[in-house]
Amino acid sequence: MTARLHGTGLTLGYNERVIASDLEITVPDRSFTVIIGPNACGKSTTLRALARMMKPRSGAVYLDGSVITSLPSKEVARRLGLLPQSSIVPDGITVADLVSRGRYPHQRLMRQWSRQDEAAVAAAMAATDVTDLAERAVDELSGGQRQRVWLAMVLAQETSILLLDEPTTFLDIAHQIEVLDLCADLHEQGRTLVAVLHDLNQACRYATHLIVMRDGRIVAEGDPTEIVTARLVADVFDLRCEIVEDPQSGTPLIVPHCRRRARTAA
Ligand SMILES: Nc1ncnc2c1ncn2[C@@H]1O[C@H](COP(=O)(O)OP(=O)(O)OP(=O)(O)O)[C@@H](O)[C@H]1O
Ligand SMILES: [Mg+2]
Repeated sequence: MTARLHGTGLTLGYNERVIASDLEITVPDRSFTVIIGPNACGKSTTLRALARMMKPRSGAVYLDGSVITSLPSKEVARRLGLLPQSSIVPDGITVADLVSRGRYPHQRLMRQWSRQDEAAVAAAMAATDVTDLAERAVDELSGGQRQRVWLAMVLAQETSILLLDEPTTFLDIAHQIEVLDLCADLHEQGRTLVAVLHDLNQACRYATHLIVMRDGRIVAEGDPTEIVTARLVADVFDLRCEIVEDPQSGTPLIVPHCRRRARTAA
């Protein structure tokens, strides 16, 4: 059985620059897939292609058996939601109005706004802890508050597949964990998630499937506990580290070496 969302033979690029070529990527159904990799290795570009925001130069992304670029955008948006790495806030818009935009793919010509839309927006705002901000202007919020509002908008879309590009950026540690726990809850409820994360320890804790990228290629993938080694971290990030067991979760905990404050000579 093939996965609902996968890309095959993908060549992705901007103008003359090729970022990835012949990329094969499969998002296991009902997985919490996490993508890690150094800056500029092509994580966001890959996510954009998976979300139909970018047309591959060759190859194709398939959603439920159809080439995604052949599907109407509203149809895709009912099944798959994307939280981009950065977005421009429409001028003067309030939190409630922005989150409500997540319902757009569900709106029909005749039936404009339903109880179900209202309930989805309220639930998304509660889950991301932004209910109290409902009437505030989004452009007047802090970076972390704004990030949670964008996430609420994607949740309000109520899609079975969620693609989240660095959903924890700008968040304090407590809100990071809250957002990741929320993602884990959504995963447990049967949704398929793909998140790009920079925190390797969080990636190892939450991912049921980890994809490690470098230079537009997937260099390792699988269960974090099986694939994350000091060697892999060195190869991918050019960083020396040791790996211990996370005392909370038992998953790999990456302890980077640094030039300062080392207990023993490195
Ligand atoms: N809109 C664009 N136009 C031209 N080049 C781009 C564009 N967006 C990204 N790139 C280039 O494509 C490459 C991959 O970028 P991408 O955003 O996919 O990296 P990333 O892995 O998400 O990095 P980060 O961890 O910094 O978010 C980079 O070299 C980047 O400069
Ligand atoms: Mg990125």
